[in-house]
Amino acid sequence: MLCPNPAYPVYHLGALFTDGIPYYVPLTWENEFLPDLGSIPKEIFQRTKIFWLNYPNNPTTATASREFFKEVVKVAKKYDFIVAHDAAYVEMYFENAPLSIFEVDEAKKVSIEFHSLSKTFCMTGWRIGFAVGNSFLVSALAKVKSNVDSGVFTAIQEAGAYALENLENLTNPIRNAFKERRDLIIEEFKKLGFEFKIPTATFYLWVKTPKNYSSQEFCKKLLDEKGIVVTPGVGFGEYGEGYFRIALTVEEKRLKEVLQRLSTLKF
Ligand SMILES: Cc1ncc(COP(=O)(O)O)c(C=O)c1O
Repeated sequence: MLCPNPAYPVYHLGALFTDGIPYYVPLTWENEFLPDLGSIPKEIFQRTKIFWLNYPNNPTTATASREFFKEVVKVAKKYDFIVAHDAAYVEMYFENAPLSIFEVDEAKKVSIEFHSLSKTFCMTGWRIGFAVGNSFLVSALAKVKSNVDSGVFTAIQEAGAYALENLENLTNPIRNAFKERRDLIIEEFKKLGFEFKIPTATFYLWVKTPKNYSSQEFCKKLLDEKGIVVTPGVGFGEYGEGYFRIALTVEEKRLKEVLQRLSTLKF
């Protein structure tokens, strides 16, 4: 199973739970946090059953280009593997809407895409989402799901149906709130001397740790000295070392307090 690294941990854990072997594909700053398909050996592609992707990406905030998706679909068809695209953040954007993999020709032959209501409607923990794509893959998923759980509480399904029917009305204010928080943080973080790519989607900031600190050391320092919790990049895999992740999931007032505390941090 090809698993991006750094990444949301469930992809490689899924491989381990099913006796699969994860092959870690680095997402690097230099490659805009997209897998470098040319660096994956042919022998690995020949043994690949699933390639996990996640764009807009947690934790790096990157989005995927149409060219990248086209290339992945081409390779998946050639080597006959599944592209499982986790699109949980696809509605959490600030400028142009990110792509679904199905905006690329023939993606349906090889792909399944996972969506969640968690981010789009601030319904984290409600445990509701959906999958779309290749009919064989969707029906296989339905077979597994109908045997491992008993479905979501009806009231939550009805709330989900209402949310989806009112997508733009409900989601625009959420996007605007996150954009305001992002603008505030990126402006001040630049002044503080931090290095990062400006996120156009997701509600995170993926920031380089200052020189001479590992990601864990720097996050511990922020917690011990300033009472600020951020996530060390290495928690998302070895290629996350050298970064930390900020979640913009608290109100602007609280973010301003964070900035105030950071202004006196020595590093
Ligand atoms: C990339 C990614 N996929 C999926 C999820 C989980 O979504 P859900 O709440 O629907 O389980 C998250 C939540 O943090 C995530 O970051």
